[in-house]
Amino acid sequence: MPIFHRGKGEAEPSTTSSRPDVPAHAEEPDWRSFDSVAETYARVMAPNFSKIATDLVGLLGASPGQRVLDVGTGTGVAARAAKAALGDGGVVVGIDPSVGMLRMAAVAGGGPSYAASTSIDLPFADGTFDHLLGNFVMAFFPDYRTALFELLRILRPGGRVAVTAWGPGEDQDELRTTWRRVAEEFAEHDILEDAAQRAIPWERKFGDRNELKDVLHDAGLRDIWTELRDYRFDSSREDWLASREVTPVARFLKQMLSDEYWDVFRTRVRAVFAEQFPDRINDFRDAVLAVGHKPSAS
Ligand SMILES: C[S@@+](CC[C@H](N)C(=O)[O-])C[C@H]1O[C@@H](n2cnc3c(N)ncnc32)[C@H](O)[C@@H]1O
Repeated sequence: MPIFHRGKGEAEPSTTSSRPDVPAHAEEPDWRSFDSVAETYARVMAPNFSKIATDLVGLLGASPGQRVLDVGTGTGVAARAAKAALGDGGVVVGIDPSVGMLRMAAVAGGGPSYAASTSIDLPFADGTFDHLLGNFVMAFFPDYRTALFELLRILRPGGRVAVTAWGPGEDQDELRTTWRRVAEEFAEHDILEDAAQRAIPWERKFGDRNELKDVLHDAGLRDIWTELRDYRFDSSREDWLASREVTPVARFLKQMLSDEYWDVFRTRVRAVFAEQFPDRINDFRDAVLAVGHKPSAS
């Protein structure tokens, strides 16, 4: 029986406050934010994402000196790849709501500028950017239609949008199902599913390249091209487990369990992985890449 289950346990972490004048959610950081995992993300995730980001930037076909916005830039992986492609005269801006992630992006340098923002009410005039990038971010948008409307506003006519999402059945491989099985010893399946749904509501939808294509078309993009590409990531078993702790479900679990039970979980998952998997892990993942352009005004 998991430690947390619906009915008696709390499905939402931090719903109680020790101070009557302070709303419960003000006491603990929002587990949906990447702030608390930014350093780990920069260390174990960002290097893996740089190949995908470079491929994505390649799809933009950007020319030296152009202006590119990287939405949900995180630690700036795609922003740096874009800046490298645009050269000295190019301008790359990365936006992200997580200041912790932006701090890592700033430390990495490489030339882009950064601002803290979601993709709503962006402080840019219409048609400011030649191209837009979104590397593994669209699935996080609470309302993707509104976000895309705003993003296309700041894109010049003729400009391109290139985005990625994880492919279908991404969480079904042996590594991830094993990790999840151990997590479900600590919190019920439905509670973890609910957390994933709240943090990344569109992960399954955009994992289907046809659905992603329809969404981009409905937003107003044309000549949309999509592809499913497979990537291989090689890491130590410990780094693979660290990369799992960056995911929204792990952030939720960590906040839900006390420090004591989180440590018990970490010890248990490491023991299970040591039994089942070698010291070095080859992780194969499918990513959907999509690019389309905003039609020129007629
Ligand atoms: C999986 S990370 C990808 C980061 C980066 N694009 C990369 O390739 O490493 C998702 C990022 O999207 C950001 N994010 C979440 N919701 C967002 C929103 N509504 N608008 C913009 N960014 C958002 C998160 O803070 C996080 O940094």
